[in-house]
Amino acid sequence: MQIELFEGDITRFAADAIVNAANTSLLDGGGVDGAIHRAAGPELLAECRTLHGCATGQAKRTGAYRLPARYVIHTPGPIWHGGHQNEAALLQSCYTQCLRLADDSGCRSIAFPSISTGVYRFPLDLAAPIAIQTLAAFSGVCLQKATMVCFDAVTYAAYQQAVQALDDAHEA
Ligand code: APR
Repeated sequence: MQIELFEGDITRFAADAIVNAANTSLLDGGGVDGAIHRAAGPELLAECRTLHGCATGQAKRTGAYRLPARYVIHTPGPIWHGGHQNEAALLQSCYTQCLRLADDSGCRSIAFPSISTGVYRFPLDLAAPIAIQTLAAFSGVCLQKATMVCFDAVTYAAYQQAVQALDDAHEA
């Protein structure tokens, strides 16, 4: 899987599927969820109400309405409780489930925000390598490119370091 990093706003990023770091109700979020709902329009919330929530580490798909994408894939990341409540495995599952759903939906490209590293407080230096390693390990039928859309320079630097670490490990 080809991995790219981009610094900016995911609601302006064109990809077949855009991932939303949601909560388990799939309703009333702030952060990237709030931005995605504002940009997509009220039809997105109406469709989310029909989904009856989503478990942490799983993923559900909706239309993307006014966003430059075909689908929004909603995934509730784990809330960080110190690292002993299966947070790493759940975060990995978020990325894997989103990739599978996008691939099964015929998507060639997918864009992710930094899941769980905002309101849910998952440490960025631990989350970035989990995300990058999971993207790198995935091989789909249709899906060819995954972009991590980082909202700020600190987030971008953490993902850049994770990509570099993976490259170094492959060369060693
Ligand atoms: N584009 C890209 N990334 C963004 C955007 C945006 N428009 N807005 C925020 N982000 C970034 C944040 O800076 C952070 O790096 O998304 C990352 C994830 O942050 P949150 O949105 O807080 O998501 P998360 O930590 O997974 O917490 C989820 O927050 O908004 C609620 O409903 C959501 O309760 C859920 C919780």
